[in-house]
Amino acid sequence: MANVIVVGTQWGDEGKGKVVDIYAKNADVIARFQGGNNAGHTLVVKGEQTILHLIPSGILHAGKICVIGNGVVVDPPVLIGELNRLRDRGLLPASTRLYVSEKAHIIMPYHRRLDIARELHGVGKKIGTTGRGIGPAYEDKIARVGIRLCDLLDEEIFQEKLNRNVEEKNFYLTKLFGEEPLDGRAIFEEYRAYADELRPYAADVSLIIQREIDRGRKVLFEGAQGTHLDVDHGTFPYVTSSNTVAGNACCGAGVGPLAARSVIGICKAYTTRVGEGPFPTELQDETGARLQQVGQEFGATTGRKRRCGWLDMVLIRHAVRVSGITGIALTKLDVLTGIEKLRICTGYQTEREEFTESVPANLRLLAQCRPVYEELDGWTEDIRGARRIEDLPRNTRRYVERIEEMASARLVLISVGPDREETITLNNPFAD
Ligand code: GDP
Ligand code: IMO
Ligand code: MG
Repeated sequence: MANVIVVGTQWGDEGKGKVVDIYAKNADVIARFQGGNNAGHTLVVKGEQTILHLIPSGILHAGKICVIGNGVVVDPPVLIGELNRLRDRGLLPASTRLYVSEKAHIIMPYHRRLDIARELHGVGKKIGTTGRGIGPAYEDKIARVGIRLCDLLDEEIFQEKLNRNVEEKNFYLTKLFGEEPLDGRAIFEEYRAYADELRPYAADVSLIIQREIDRGRKVLFEGAQGTHLDVDHGTFPYVTSSNTVAGNACCGAGVGPLAARSVIGICKAYTTRVGEGPFPTELQDETGARLQQVGQEFGATTGRKRRCGWLDMVLIRHAVRVSGITGIALTKLDVLTGIEKLRICTGYQTEREEFTESVPANLRLLAQCRPVYEELDGWTEDIRGARRIEDLPRNTRRYVERIEEMASARLVLISVGPDREETITLNNPFAD
C-alpha cells in the first residue's frame, strides 16, 4: 500500500499545492480531508497559475479521481465557481472524476456572517480569520445542527434544518451583534439551485477510496493549512477549526489508520503566518520585508500580506512528531538567495528552560520565549535552474543538510521556484 499523506509543517502556505500537483502524477486518487475554502493552494505549470480552494490539487492531471472528503466544509457557490473556471479553461476533461462526500458539511451564509461579525465585534480576541465561515461551520457540525451535503440534496430535510438554523443564527446576529437578520426563504431558493448543480458529484467517498485501494490504486491525501494551525496541536486559539495533522487524513476521508505508508511534511525554507497569533522568529525589519517581497508572500485566499521570519526548527520537530512525518519537502529555497547570513531557530529560551522539541501550549509562556539561532553563510548564486542536489552551491547544501539533521526526517524534495519543473526530486514517496 503506497498511499501518501501531505501536510503543512508550519502555519500554512508552505507550498502544499505545488508538491501535491507533482506527486499526483503518480497517484490515482487525490483526496482533500479537512478545511474548506480558507485554503488557497497554488499550482504553476509552464508559467500558468491555478489557485485552488476546495478542489484537490491533482485536478490538473487528466484522468485522476479527485475527492473532497467528509472532513471538509464545502461552500457550494465557491465549489461551483471553481469547477466552472476550470471547465472554461479546458482543464476538466471527461476522464477526470470529482466526488464530494455526502457527509461533508455545508458552509451557509450565516456561517460567513457570524465569522465576520465575531471578528468585528470582538467576542473573544480577534483571530484574523479568512472570513469564510469556516469556524462557525465546524461549530455546527460538532453541535450536531450542521447541514451536510446529503441534507442539502433532500429538500424536506434541508428546509427543516435551515429554518431551525436561521432562527437561531438570526437571534445571534440581531441580538448579540446588532446586525440585520438573514432571509431564510431567499437562502432556501438560492441553495436549492446549488443542490441541483452539486447532485452529480455527491458520493460515499469512503467507499470509493476503499474500492480503489482494494484494486491496488494509490491514494494521495492532501492536507490544508498547517500543523500549527491545528485546533488541538497548534497555537490555540490562533488556529483554524479543524485538525490539520496527518491523523485526520483517515478520519476526514473515511479510511483506517493504516491506510498510508508515508507522510510528507511540507516545510518552507523560512516561516510565514497570515492573521494574528504568536510567531517567535518573526522579523519586523528589512530582512522580513525582503522575504515578503521576494517570496511574494500574499495570502492566496484573502490577498493579505503574510508575516515573515526565519526558519523555526521547533515548529518543524513538533510537526514531525504529531504527524509522524517520514519525509520533508523543502520549498521556496530560492527566496533565500542573496541573504548574506541565514539564521535557523534551534530552540526557544525562557529564563528557566529551553524548548527544542515542542511549542509551549501556554501563550504567556510562549510570549516569554526568545529564539535561539544558529547562523549559516548564505549564497548568491541563482538556484532556480537546479534540478539535482549536486547543482546547488555548497552553502545551500549546508543549509538543507542542517534542516534534515535537525528535523530527523529525510529530505524528499527541494523546490527552487513556483513552477512544477523548478524542483529537485530526491525520493518519490510513491516509488519507494
Ligand atoms: P499552499 O497553501 O501550501 O498550497 O501554498 P500557497 O499556494 O498558498 O503559497 C505558496 C506560494 O509559493 C505560491 O504562490 C506558490 O506558487 C509559491 N511557491 C511554491 N514553491 C515555491 C518555490 O520553491 N519558490 C518560489 N519562489 N515560490 C514557490
Ligand atoms: P492553506 O491550505 C494560511 C489562518 C487564517 C487565520 C486562522 C483561522 O492555503 O495553507 P479560519 O478562516 O481558518 O478560521 O482562520 O487560520 N488560515 C490559513 N493561513 N494558509 C491557510 O491555508 C489558512 N487557512 C486558514 O489566516 O489566521
Ligand atoms: Mg495557501
